[in-house]
Amino acid sequence: MEPIRIPPQPVSPPVIEVRASARAAAERLAEDARHGLSGDFKELPPKYFYDERGSRLFEQITELAEYYPTRAERAILALHSDAIVAAADFPGELVELGSGSATKTRALLDAMRDAGCLDGYVPVDISEQISRETAAAIGAEYPGIAVHGVVCDFEHDLEDLPARGDRIIAFLGGTIGNFAPPERRAFLRRLAALMGDRDVLLLGTDLVKDADALELAYDDPGGVTAEFNKNVLRVLNRELGADFDLDAFEHVARFDIANQRIDIRLRSVRAQRVVLTGLDLAVDFEAGEEMRTELSCKFTEASLRRAYHEAGLELVELWTDPEGRFALSLARAS
Ligand code: TRP
Repeated sequence: MEPIRIPPQPVSPPVIEVRASARAAAERLAEDARHGLSGDFKELPPKYFYDERGSRLFEQITELAEYYPTRAERAILALHSDAIVAAADFPGELVELGSGSATKTRALLDAMRDAGCLDGYVPVDISEQISRETAAAIGAEYPGIAVHGVVCDFEHDLEDLPARGDRIIAFLGGTIGNFAPPERRAFLRRLAALMGDRDVLLLGTDLVKDADALELAYDDPGGVTAEFNKNVLRVLNRELGADFDLDAFEHVARFDIANQRIDIRLRSVRAQRVVLTGLDLAVDFEAGEEMRTELSCKFTEASLRRAYHEAGLELVELWTDPEGRFALSLARAS
């Protein structure tokens, strides 16, 4: 007897959309740098760490013994993805903000596929190169699902992402912690406003723990983190014709207990003037002056509930790794 043949499912190739906001990033660097270096307190936005070299250095950070967040979040996904998908009520689509190479995401996609609900994956990332690789890989690994990658600055294009109404919007890695509280509130509010009744947010947040463990995670003795922090100066040297002397700045990472956040800075070891020819700007640093390069807010369940509440979101369920270092939580618009 002839075996019954099931016709192969039509596989549409991954779609990659490159938005203007991805290319406009270069112009924003100039504006952001001028703004951040002109005030009394100097500050640079953290997104400029991640050129090719910076992305490689960050990959190295995630493998350091001292830097636990990536491993802890992966452990949560390995242990609880089935429960997360069930608590989300089996949505058809996963939208991932800052998907990168999507290494952690497979656990979620597997759980959705095994539950029979996975129809589509929307990776959203600023890097076109990585997005193309990720979309192709996921398309091959999960045949039959629609992969629609969007290359953009998601802070700009958030309201303009492909929408379907029953999706998990995943924002992993603890990146929400890199927003200062007012910007975090505004960003979560925008998410709440675009979420339908059946949409859920899956948010990764690092948890408050003792200061020594936190500071070590952001200042490893091997100096990878210091190198990563200084990479932003290389980016300014290259992109804006600046003359930052990398040896004249020191990496500083302190846990600010009152505000429950790691405050990452570069300290000028001497009085110096830096010239940014691309901006036609000269910037003076005093000896010992510190410039902030990143905040990394840490949460408790209570502070996370507050962060959701003030943004019009409501915690549905929260999972931590076995050692209680990191949390993944699911929220709905309230
Ligand atoms: N978003 C990461 C975090 O907050 C980035 C990061 C890790 C980082 N280590 C760093 C940024 C050191 C600056 C310096 O965990």
